[in-house]
Amino acid sequence: MAMIIKNGFVVSSKETKQADILVKNGKIASVEENITEPASEIIDAANMLVMPGGVDVHTHLDMPFMGTVSGDDFETGTIAAAFGGTTSIVDYVIPGKWDNLKRAVNKWHKKASGKAVIDYGFHAAIVPPVHKAVKELDYLLETGITSIKCFLAYKNTLMLDDAAFFNLLEEAAKRKILVCVHAENGEVIDYLAKKYLKEGKTEPVYHAYSRPPELEGEAVARAITLAGIAGAPVYFVHLSSKQAIQEIKQAKKSKKKVFAETCPQYMLLSENKYFEKRFKGAKYVMSPPLRKLKHCDYIKKSLTDGLIDVIATDHCPFTFRQKQKGLKNFSLIPNGIPGIETRMPLMYNEMVVKMGMDLSRFVELNCTKPAKLFGLKEKGDIKPGKDADIAIWNPDLIWKIKKKKLHENVDYTPFEECVVTGKPITVLSRGEIIIENDELKAKPGRGLYIKREKSSFS
Ligand code: URP
Ligand code: ZN
Ligand code: ZN
Repeated sequence: MAMIIKNGFVVSSKETKQADILVKNGKIASVEENITEPASEIIDAANMLVMPGGVDVHTHLDMPFMGTVSGDDFETGTIAAAFGGTTSIVDYVIPGKWDNLKRAVNKWHKKASGKAVIDYGFHAAIVPPVHKAVKELDYLLETGITSIKCFLAYKNTLMLDDAAFFNLLEEAAKRKILVCVHAENGEVIDYLAKKYLKEGKTEPVYHAYSRPPELEGEAVARAITLAGIAGAPVYFVHLSSKQAIQEIKQAKKSKKKVFAETCPQYMLLSENKYFEKRFKGAKYVMSPPLRKLKHCDYIKKSLTDGLIDVIATDHCPFTFRQKQKGLKNFSLIPNGIPGIETRMPLMYNEMVVKMGMDLSRFVELNCTKPAKLFGLKEKGDIKPGKDADIAIWNPDLIWKIKKKKLHENVDYTPFEECVVTGKPITVLSRGEIIIENDELKAKPGRGLYIKREKSSFS
């Protein structure tokens, strides 16, 4: 039987209008005024915003990294996502030293199946030594993985040299695979980190000092040049600096197929967090690091200038205890922070409430464009034919972010005490209510693997 979401302000990537949504067999059947069809369930959304569920295309669930494992698995991570109004994610498969790509992908399926409460897809990181087996890229496509990630940082672990990166750009271009790039100059970062440590500079702030914004700008420029020669579209993950965005601006101006992602932390938090006493600055250690305020402001402005295509989280949580690995050496602090549950409310508050941005632009950056770029055909918008992945928001609710109220499996949130306006109250995935009034209604395992299509590259 059908469900109708009645009387809400429906926000799509194109417009906001008062309308009803008819949901049939988990799909959006129609979006019209005053739908009168018989329905077994009616949700009254009067005075609410009815938006597409968020699409977070950058997560690291249950990921072995820097000698430990990220704290959220596919159960806790997707539950947290759902509470925050996100209804699909794309997680990074990271092959281990002894894996081929097939084995690595199967490992990720085992991590996710029976656990996820929302739908999920995978990207594959191409790291040493699997980067040599370029033929395996065909296997990725067969299995619905249509994007790869190359790291230009993390020397001696995940980093590729320029020749290996270029080879992958060429191979990806042949297959129309979208290449995601972590752009920081890993060689110079390694040099600077060693230099600081030798000088006895071991505190968390030296994580930031060893990764200056110029090294992000340089790596973005280099990747754009190499991608241009190889004829490969590129997608830059987690951009954090003015230098990086200026390179994107230049490339977009020259009509290059270059896409930019940023994350809430690079707009809302700044470098001074690293000075928190008693090693608390370690909670903000991620790569790229937090920057000075002028970078945060520049990125926010870039949202309106059309330079940013996607807002994602890079959700990669480690507890404060896990962060202690780097108590005497900042380079051993596991890199990553939580954010899967807070992205949509923080961004609604920043973009719509504070910056006065159009609701459709909010939807475009957080739902529609990521779905399009990563071939999640059924996701990311409210229109007939799409999955009924819908978040019903109270746009006026003012609340304070507090770790103890969140569902992320980690002992802190970098956004503690942030006051935000607007909250998803009811969340649907394929027409099924999964969150209602702060309660989880879904069973782990209901989330489905999404075999993704190739990128629209637009
Ligand atoms: O610090 C970060 N970003 N950790 C996750 C791995 C990555 O680089 O995306
Ligand atoms: Zn990265
Ligand atoms: Zn990441």
